[in-house]
Amino acid sequence: MKKLVLTGAAGRLGSYLREPLSKLADELVSSDIADDIGTLYPGERYQKADLAKYDDIHALLDGADMVVHFGAIGDEAPFETILGPNIVGAYNVWEAAYQHKLRRVVYASSIHAVGMHPRQDFIGTDARHRPDTFYGLAKCFAEDLGSLYWDKRGLESVCLRILSAAQVTSTRALGTWLSYEDLIQLVIRGIDTPTTGFSVVYGVSNNDRTPVDNSKASFLGYRPKDNAEQFAETILSEADPADVSDPAQMCHGGPFASIELGNSGLATMDIVDDTKQT
Ligand SMILES: NC(=O)c1ccc[n+]([C@@H]2O[C@H](COP(=O)([O-])OP(=O)(O)OC[C@H]3O[C@@H](n4cnc5c(N)ncnc54)[C@H](O)[C@@H]3O)[C@@H](O)[C@H]2O)c1
Repeated sequence: MKKLVLTGAAGRLGSYLREPLSKLADELVSSDIADDIGTLYPGERYQKADLAKYDDIHALLDGADMVVHFGAIGDEAPFETILGPNIVGAYNVWEAAYQHKLRRVVYASSIHAVGMHPRQDFIGTDARHRPDTFYGLAKCFAEDLGSLYWDKRGLESVCLRILSAAQVTSTRALGTWLSYEDLIQLVIRGIDTPTTGFSVVYGVSNNDRTPVDNSKASFLGYRPKDNAEQFAETILSEADPADVSDPAQMCHGGPFASIELGNSGLATMDIVDDTKQT
């Protein structure tokens, strides 16, 4: 591959993807709205771009083979805040990818696209969209863009419905954890699988308590290695009492399922900022 583009490169997940992705192409163009992303890896170049501005994204994808699209507002927020980066931004990525004849968009979707499904339903990748927030609604829109651009324009998409790519700090995360090593494997499979059409796969490690069914995406060859069970004894001994009336405990979206629309979900969670430094 000549040119691979990564959006959201200044973000927490982007910080773990930059180095492995820089080895997959002659040139990795990392992008974000941030002014810079620290020391670059060999073969990596930085290009600042605002997802909400089509001209920025059109210039970014010029000459690229694929784009790994991770840039977004990564939390629930008022609709007006989500609209530019996450909804218009998704359109800009798929449209510019089509205009420049890219082969594929590998997209950071989310469990929040289906977050209102009850947890006891072992949902597959074909579960209907059931967003828990405006943030999740934007993920549904982007997945549907991927479907539309495949059906009508022949542009492939792999939508990675990530559950929780963060340190395990809750009972929910014993099922939803996606380790950074497994995230890297997942993104690489999204890139190197020869044909994908439009595909959806859950981004989750090989946890004993995994709440979703990835079997229909097994052709992607994603075989996660890590298992959150190693944290179970400590997490369960410190857990608050269970509450079956709380959607945060009963729905796939966790805390996002119970917050008011427009309010931060991450603020109610114990997310450790372990962004990789360069
Ligand atoms: N971390 C998780 O557990 C998780 C779970 C599901 C989905 N995701 C998705 O994965 C992606 C990365 O998540 P993260 O945890 O690294 O989030 P993050 O907030 O750390 O990174 C997102 C990046 O997007 C950039 N961005 C925001 N608005 C932009 C704009 N207008 N133009 C260009 N860049 C912009 C931000 O500057 C930031 O660096 C996001 O799309 C998120 O929705 C993450």
